Amino acid sequence: MTRFQAPKGVSEYLPPNSALFDRVLWNLQNVALSAGYQLIELPIFEDTELFTRGVGESTDVVTKEMYTFEDRGGRSLTLRPEGTAGVMRAVIEHGLDRGQLPVKLFYRGPFFRAERPQAGRYRQFYQFGIEAIGVDDPILDSEVIAIADRGFRRLGLKNYSLQITSLGDSESRSKHRQDFLSFLSKLNLDDETRARVQKNPLRILDDKREAIQKSLIDAPRLLDYLSDESRQKFEVLQQALTRLEIPFEINPRMVRGLDYYTGTAFEFVHRGLGAQSSIGGGGRYDGLMETLGGQSLSGIGFGLGIDRIILALQDEGLAENNPGYIDLYLVPIGEAARGISLPMIEKVRGAGFVADLAFGERSLKGAMKAADKLAARYVLVLGDDEITSGSARLKRMSDGTELSITLDSLVQALEQATAR
Ligand code: HAM
Repeated sequence: MTRFQAPKGVSEYLPPNSALFDRVLWNLQNVALSAGYQLIELPIFEDTELFTRGVGESTDVVTKEMYTFEDRGGRSLTLRPEGTAGVMRAVIEHGLDRGQLPVKLFYRGPFFRAERPQAGRYRQFYQFGIEAIGVDDPILDSEVIAIADRGFRRLGLKNYSLQITSLGDSESRSKHRQDFLSFLSKLNLDDETRARVQKNPLRILDDKREAIQKSLIDAPRLLDYLSDESRQKFEVLQQALTRLEIPFEINPRMVRGLDYYTGTAFEFVHRGLGAQSSIGGGGRYDGLMETLGGQSLSGIGFGLGIDRIILALQDEGLAENNPGYIDLYLVPIGEAARGISLPMIEKVRGAGFVADLAFGERSLKGAMKAADKLAARYVLVLGDDEITSGSARLKRMSDGTELSITLDSLVQALEQATAR
């Protein structure tokens, strides 16, 4: 046995799996970049109080899971358990909210929670996240959700669903809180649970004990208490998702593990992952910025669990030959084709696709092998016949299906072929 081992419950990526890890991040990042989000790179540790205030004192994350330590100057620091509080701290500190709104940011990196390790649950895990700050618009909520969905689809994932709910505004929540507390007062709860309920009554929905869950079946649901404004926003979000052809389910019992959520909340759940099935989640946070000393601006974002996305890709058999890395691979045969191949590929790249071509005078067989190795989703073979007729066949590599297209409509054909 080797003398040193990695600490318990950390996730690590060694070759060849590290390529998949990189590919997942790369794809998610490209989707965020295409919607105007910009990278923000932040420290791994922050003042402990940023999280106790931002994430919420009654949450499991703050009460049980933080890696907190004192530095040599006696300051209390904590390894970041999530990304939103740090992003807000940086936005306020550097005045990013004084320019054009919304401020659109993305981040990726390790996060730390001292949880009981199991498959899909680690003490050091990786997230890719985005935040759009400063505009309260349900269409922006739908954009944030659409970015996660497009990211998952780009990676080839299919076996997942989107759950949404609304936690309403403060008016909705205070009306619900009264009825919910009076419902809870009739239950036989232990002292510790009662104390938690006082801080944030909704936390009890997160309680894993079966008896508690049973006793909550008839509890008043927040979704039934939404103010007119909150209900209308929730309806606009649903219409927007329908127009984007993103299927969703409404889950009125969804509990997010962090206290800052208001209004829209959502989770992506993968059906092949067992207990740790949430591959990403997020929502709107109205009061967070003000709580942390900034202006009163709303924001919305998500965090996607990279480790769980990789498990999901493995579950769907997509880990080996992960489609999506290269959308189109062009194989030019002959001089005429070689002459027009790069301008053609550049046009496809310009439309947002990842595209490459077989350089050098390769045989068709060698080029097809390369396409396979690169995990290209589509291949186009371009020879003299295709140039003369102006039409060609676009081959889908996953099942060999061929689509007849005109060379002029290559970009549109790819757009249609890669849509849901
Ligand atoms: P969260 O739901 O706590 O949200 O985490 C987001 C995702 O990170 C989860 O859906 C899961 O995939 C992954 N994750 C969380 N904990 C672990 C763990 N111990 N091991 C492996 N994966 C894990 C947030 O963190 C919010 N900051 C998201 C957000 C951004 N909301 C608004 N903006």
